[in-house]
Amino acid sequence: MTAEQTVPGCPVDDSFDPLSPEFLSDPHAVLANLPQQGAPVFFAPRIGYYVITRHKDIEDVFKDPATYSAAVAQAPLVPLVPEAQQILLAGGHRPQPSMVSLDEPEHARLRKPAARAFSMRRVTAMIPAIEATTGKLLDDVAAEEEFDLVAALAYPLPATIVFSLMGVPEQDHPRLKQWCGYRAALAWGRPAPQDQVEIATNMAAYRKYLRDLVDKKTQEPGDDVTSDLIAIHEENPERLTLDEIASILFSLSFAGHETTTGLIGNTVRRLLEDPARWAEIADRPELIPKAVEESLRYDPSVPVWRRVTTRPVTLAGVDLPAGARLFLWLAASGRDATAFADPDTFDLHRPDAERHLAFGKGLHYCLGANLGKLEAQIAIAELARRYPRLRLAPDQRLTFHPNISFRGPQALTVQAR
Ligand code: HEM
Repeated sequence: MTAEQTVPGCPVDDSFDPLSPEFLSDPHAVLANLPQQGAPVFFAPRIGYYVITRHKDIEDVFKDPATYSAAVAQAPLVPLVPEAQQILLAGGHRPQPSMVSLDEPEHARLRKPAARAFSMRRVTAMIPAIEATTGKLLDDVAAEEEFDLVAALAYPLPATIVFSLMGVPEQDHPRLKQWCGYRAALAWGRPAPQDQVEIATNMAAYRKYLRDLVDKKTQEPGDDVTSDLIAIHEENPERLTLDEIASILFSLSFAGHETTTGLIGNTVRRLLEDPARWAEIADRPELIPKAVEESLRYDPSVPVWRRVTTRPVTLAGVDLPAGARLFLWLAASGRDATAFADPDTFDLHRPDAERHLAFGKGLHYCLGANLGKLEAQIAIAELARRYPRLRLAPDQRLTFHPNISFRGPQALTVQAR
């Protein structure tokens, strides 16, 4: 798309590139210095999207799924090479495979059984497993003076929990973790052609594994989400097919992985940035749920989500045509001064941080929000209990994976003593 395709009255920012090194290292600095500061909508020719920055406008978009379709939620930002497309198609990865990018009524067909299987009861029942896994992972680094919090805890914890929920046998976890690496690059980054082929091959293998898991669980059901979904299928096979169950599992595991790794990494980073903050958390662990909400507002692990207009519509005073692709900048909405007082301050005592839009809103509202928050809370509580004087290693340069929608430090070195 070129600048000529923008609409009258809509500012254009030729320099805006959410995959540039400056943006990846500090998106909030880019936000603070936008050339058309304060514009609630602007067009970014480098990605062909209209960028939406205000809390209210993004909320309105989420609340009107008939006008704003989810179809582009997982669309590759850059076209994939034909070889990668072939591998994905052959591996059962259709261009719009999962519930997050489906509109009604197809979306509800998957969402309803998934929500039933992924119940509060099932999430609450995971608490002992989350606590035990956190303890075990931290025991593994107990002798270290300094360790990488992401490798030690923030990465393996959500992966282990989501695979256990799905009923994946423990001996298969390492293989699955390997297949799942950097899936985000395919739809949300600009991977090089050879990387696209490698990621596509891994995703096809993962898809096949999940389909086989569904078959296995039909023979030997267990106490897991997969078996719950199969029970729904058995009530009425036309209501939910076995292929659809595999697709739901793919959604759950993908969505429940890097998102939560990022949430843990971002929250620990922000808490340790100010030693007084960490001391307060260690002293008053009841503040941890608030800290997690504030982190989701201040530095969300899913900083961007996408929609496309189904009809001409006026948004924030700009007349958008049908087919306009929207870059919903969730991270900017958390820093919107018309929505939050003193938005650039990380405040453990903020009364309304949970009004953030980090989990979306409406029909597609994140199915795993409670699980993700629970994992982060338990991880931080155990860290603070073991290490009330934990510190960030000085002079480290944080790096972030180059994609638009999943953000957290790739490594976070902390000093235990
Ligand atoms: C903890 C950090 C997480 C964040 C920041 C996050 C964020 C999001 C966002 C922004 C959406 C899109 C909402 C929309 O389109 O309105 C979403 C959807 C979704 N999330 Fe999460 N998520 C997180 C964790 C999880 C976990 C742990 C799971 C499951 C294990 C999960 C499962 C899902 C699913 C299945 C959807 C699609 C729901 C639908 O389309 O109906 N998420 N999430």
